[in-house]
Amino acid sequence: MNPTIAIKEARTERNVHPLIRQRFSPRAFTAEPVSEEELLTLMEAAHWAPSSMNEQPWRFRYALRGDAAFDALRDTLSGGNQPWAPNAAAIVAISGMKHHARNRALNATWAFDTGMAVGNLLAQATSMGIYGHILGGFEHAQATSRLGLVETEEELICLLVLGRLGDAGTLSEPYITRERTPRTRKPLSEVAARLNT
Ligand SMILES: Cc1cc2nc3c(=O)[nH]c(=O)nc-3n(C[C@H](O)[C@H](O)[C@H](O)COP(=O)(O)O)c2cc1C
Repeated sequence: MNPTIAIKEARTERNVHPLIRQRFSPRAFTAEPVSEEELLTLMEAAHWAPSSMNEQPWRFRYALRGDAAFDALRDTLSGGNQPWAPNAAAIVAISGMKHHARNRALNATWAFDTGMAVGNLLAQATSMGIYGHILGGFEHAQATSRLGLVETEEELICLLVLGRLGDAGTLSEPYITRERTPRTRKPLSEVAARLNT
């Protein structure tokens, strides 16, 4: 087993499912490809997420390493993501449709719904030994334009790089240290509270 997995596995107080505990956002990827079929499996898992009025506002556009579209999105990454993210096997642009198709009214939960879909995608990926790292650090206007999105209709939220877990030692600092540092969370009591009735 890759030693990073043992470092990164969430130390939970309760019996949380291994798929949740073992997901993390890596920076070291192997050169192994992720197939288009595997990517489509991840997106199919995402697509079965719940959404307001079953609108399914999420949209996924993907490219494999070696595709010109991969390079076009890679080049929009911010400085902190450039040194490691391009080693991933695939990149997915995650966007959402902002209006209800039915009546063109603004869909207040398009981004929430899309986030839930990505949660599904990452759990499915973990089950398949594929790891994803969501990226908000990129040039949004440039990526939006390269993807040809109509901004009044659809908003680009983030990029997601995916691949198989590589050796942390292949990274440069500060990324090696980050890859070898256990994950943390705020105390649960800070985010979950029983209501006074
Ligand atoms: C919307 C969003 C944007 C993010 N942007 C970046 C990013 O640009 N670069 C990066 O290294 N990590 C990014 N992350 C990953 C978070 O830093 C990471 O999820 C968080 O530190 C918790 O670590 P974990 O995913 O390993 O549990 C982003 C995560 C989300 C959800």
